[in-house]
Amino acid sequence: MEGKIIGISGSVVTVSGLEDPMMNNIVFIGEKELVGEIVKIEGRNAIIQVYEDTSGLKVGEKAVDSKEPLSVELGPGLIGSIFDGIQRPLDKILSKEGTFISSGIKINSLDREKKWHFKPKAEEGKAVEPGEEIGEVKETSLIKHKVIVPINKKGIIKKIAEEGDYTVEDTIAVLEDDKKTEEIKLMTKWPVRTARPVKEKLSPTVPLLTGQRAIDTMFPVAMGGTAAVPGPFGSGKTVIQHQLAKWSDADVIVYVGCGERGNEMTEILTTFPELKDPKSGKPLMDRTILIANTSNMPVAAREASIYTGITLAEYYRDMGYSVAVMADSTSRWAEALRELSGRLEEMPGEEGYPAYLGRRVGEFYERAGRARILSGKIGAATIIGAVSPPGGDISEPVSQNTLRVTRVFWALDASLANARHFPSINWLNSYSLYTDELDQWYRKNIAEDWPELRDKSMATLQKEAEINEIVQLVGYDALPESDKLILDVARMLREDYLQQNAFDEIDTYASVSKQYRMLKIINQVFDAEKAALERNVPIEKIQSVQVKPKIARLRYTKEEEIDAKIKEIEKDIEEIKKTNVEK
Ligand SMILES: Nc1ncnc2c1ncn2[C@@H]1O[C@H](COP(=O)(O)OP(=O)(O)O)[C@@H](O)[C@H]1O
Ligand SMILES: [Mg+2]
Repeated sequence: MEGKIIGISGSVVTVSGLEDPMMNNIVFIGEKELVGEIVKIEGRNAIIQVYEDTSGLKVGEKAVDSKEPLSVELGPGLIGSIFDGIQRPLDKILSKEGTFISSGIKINSLDREKKWHFKPKAEEGKAVEPGEEIGEVKETSLIKHKVIVPINKKGIIKKIAEEGDYTVEDTIAVLEDDKKTEEIKLMTKWPVRTARPVKEKLSPTVPLLTGQRAIDTMFPVAMGGTAAVPGPFGSGKTVIQHQLAKWSDADVIVYVGCGERGNEMTEILTTFPELKDPKSGKPLMDRTILIANTSNMPVAAREASIYTGITLAEYYRDMGYSVAVMADSTSRWAEALRELSGRLEEMPGEEGYPAYLGRRVGEFYERAGRARILSGKIGAATIIGAVSPPGGDISEPVSQNTLRVTRVFWALDASLANARHFPSINWLNSYSLYTDELDQWYRKNIAEDWPELRDKSMATLQKEAEINEIVQLVGYDALPESDKLILDVARMLREDYLQQNAFDEIDTYASVSKQYRMLKIINQVFDAEKAALERNVPIEKIQSVQVKPKIARLRYTKEEEIDAKIKEIEKDIEEIKKTNVEK
């Protein structure tokens, strides 16, 4: 039965006359059939959050219940796409001028015409379970799309298509289960607000390597882990997210640009398609899905965008891939939630956010994880969320609720950003709760002494902060030489190691092996200098060995030239070792 609009308040519409309305089901609103979701049921009325521009909508227009929850289409063609928050292909809903024109136009998320080359990977007669791989499609130059049995289906393969070209709607297999037959297509659907199931969650014992020294060395995030990047405007949140999207060793990247200024999103939309994957040289978009919701797009679609993003990520996780989701910024998402909650006249909680903000934030990050997927293989979804607290003060609700559930905290710092120390990750108050779990991986795969080197370097930086307080009181000259030495080494660690220029061709990425060599040589210089001081060699004499400029150049040294440069510095270290009290 058709319903009727009886009230409109911005993007929230009240509808009467729907038969058995159900929470979270999609309703097509008005003559234009705008997409909306039931978010509240009051007596006989359904309150609907509309994902499109409602201007021009009138009371009395019709409303049709789809009887289905807000879902995304899953299948080949996702990678390389740019969608809005409810998975509509952006190139099809934006005018040439970049304005949003799409009210009510029905567009499929996945192309219905395009043919994909399908290769069967299972035989007829085989019994298959949900999530099991039955075929493969080469989706892009980087991604083999595993065709898996949909999660709610199983049975004996009655028929499977021969190798050949098929659209997402062609039947590629027929299953029989209890005499019932089910047709399998390349495309399935999944409700975005429901996490896709896995067999079991696994411990996060493998790092997501990012090529960013401050992250991989000091505050690593695990594959399948969660990280928060809070920081004031201009502190470098977006640059970090872009760096991770470009350089992290995930197989698939889902980038959710959420409510940020239009021009920032335009930058992604224009630069990403031109970027190359550093390892393969293939276009970066061959492993990337972009979801864009700029501040000028409808607020409800922004609220949905992070769920759309994580659902697409889970889908690729379920093929056995490591997927990383970047959400920039979750604060804009939370503001959308607040706005919608206000329109629903719900009781506001802290700072006007709904009382369920914390639960929603928690539910989102809980969908991350490294897991044994239904097929028995391992897949992972990592979530990295930027948070933009007003004024940079993280005591506000979105930051607090995020920090409660995420296990890595990269605290971006306005004063570091002002001093052009980038990435402006404050090494004194950032943390990673994965460090201990990942140490074994680093020991085994990089170097036995990695954890010690990291701890020693961190201790030097902490000591620097303490010494700086003393300097405030007594002045630099009054410091003992050993403290002066520590300040010196700490400066190297900050300027030549933690700082990393995202826009320098070489410095933008450092392999973990390069990171290890750099960190090790800095600490070797430190040890040699300290030993010389202990032999009573004057600090001026120790420092007359010109090692620092060479260390400073390591950042800008190509991976394949690092060994040679390190050898030169090792010679200098020998010089330092030879210094003595006499002339
Ligand atoms: N790693 C970096 N290397 C060089 N410059 C950086 C780096 N991170 C940030 N910046 C500079 O800071 C500016 C603001 O960063 P941005 O990520 O847009 O901040 P936010 O998203 O926190 O508002 C950038 O335009 C860039 O000039
Ligand atoms: Mg930003």
